[in-house]
Amino acid sequence: MLVLGVETSCDDTAAAVLQDGQTILANVVSSQDQVHGPYGGVVPELASRQHILSILPIVDGALKNAKVTLKDLDGIAVTYGPGLVGSLLVGLSLVKGMSFRSGIPFVGVNHLEAHLLAIHLEHAVPFPYIALLASGGHTLLYCVRNVGDYLHLGGTRDDAAGEAFDKIAKIMGLGYPGGRVIDNLAKSGNRTAINFPRARFRKDSYEFSFSGIKTAVWHYLKSRGKERWEHEIADVAASFQEAVVDMLISPTIKAARASAVPRIVLSGGVAANSRLREKIKERADAEAIEVFFPAPKFCTDNGAMIALAGHHLLKRGRRDDYRLNADADLTL
Ligand code: KG4
Ligand code: ZN
Repeated sequence: MLVLGVETSCDDTAAAVLQDGQTILANVVSSQDQVHGPYGGVVPELASRQHILSILPIVDGALKNAKVTLKDLDGIAVTYGPGLVGSLLVGLSLVKGMSFRSGIPFVGVNHLEAHLLAIHLEHAVPFPYIALLASGGHTLLYCVRNVGDYLHLGGTRDDAAGEAFDKIAKIMGLGYPGGRVIDNLAKSGNRTAINFPRARFRKDSYEFSFSGIKTAVWHYLKSRGKERWEHEIADVAASFQEAVVDMLISPTIKAARASAVPRIVLSGGVAANSRLREKIKERADAEAIEVFFPAPKFCTDNGAMIALAGHHLLKRGRRDDYRLNADADLTL
């Protein structure tokens, strides 16, 4: 089965062609970092306009790289939520048009489900597994019992982890998106230099909170003054990152332990973080829990994970029609 996956939920225009849910024939992404960089965050109106410019070359590029044509496809998968409604509509409208013209069926994919399944693009991870989904828009914890069977365990009370990285990077003038920049800067910093607070919750809860750390870093920078913190910027980055990483790891390990599921899967843009990957592996190894990470290109938004989620839906007989609308607040 040959499936085209199209993703335009936020600020990446992406398309991929997946064969039999296993072989990635093409995976093309156009990032809008340059567009949103000057603003330190995604500007929704600019994002949808940029998707309109990029979507046709990206989809054509994916088909060309895969050496297939539209009529070779068995189905088209497209993200229909959650995300920015103007961005979602670009991908969804294009796919509806392609499906109408060619008669090839299409299915709407939940972006969160696609992130949770992305690991299977590279690793045959058995079910069930505990999945931490940490991105610019979401911080969620699930027990993935099977394809289509997701038990929500917890999530963030306020900001998403990636949002915290992006906002701190913006305050420190490091550019957008902040996660990768802070990750790199932190490598030359001392992660124990500043003891930023970690949010704490009831023992039996799997919650996250990143608004406190954001405020703590802001106060710290203000009290030190730019002259001084500019010299210790790598230490601030490393200490901030360590606090975020600790707050992501604790509930995740706790969930694996409590549900006796000895497998953790990371997903979402923040799962590309090198310190998170290193530290969760150390913690999990100590408890005989296996950890799996997608390659960074499959952690951030991509068309391959949409094609994979779509492959499973199509295989189960799902078909959507032209009434399917974008759903900015779609849940799982
Ligand atoms: O999954 P994604 O591409 O888009 C959303 O669905 O949000 O995630 C983007 C987020 C951004 O907030 C970005 O700063 C963060 O992932 N990110 C990282 C790293 N690479 C990307 N955060 C921490 N460390 C990284 N290496
Ligand atoms: Zn995402």
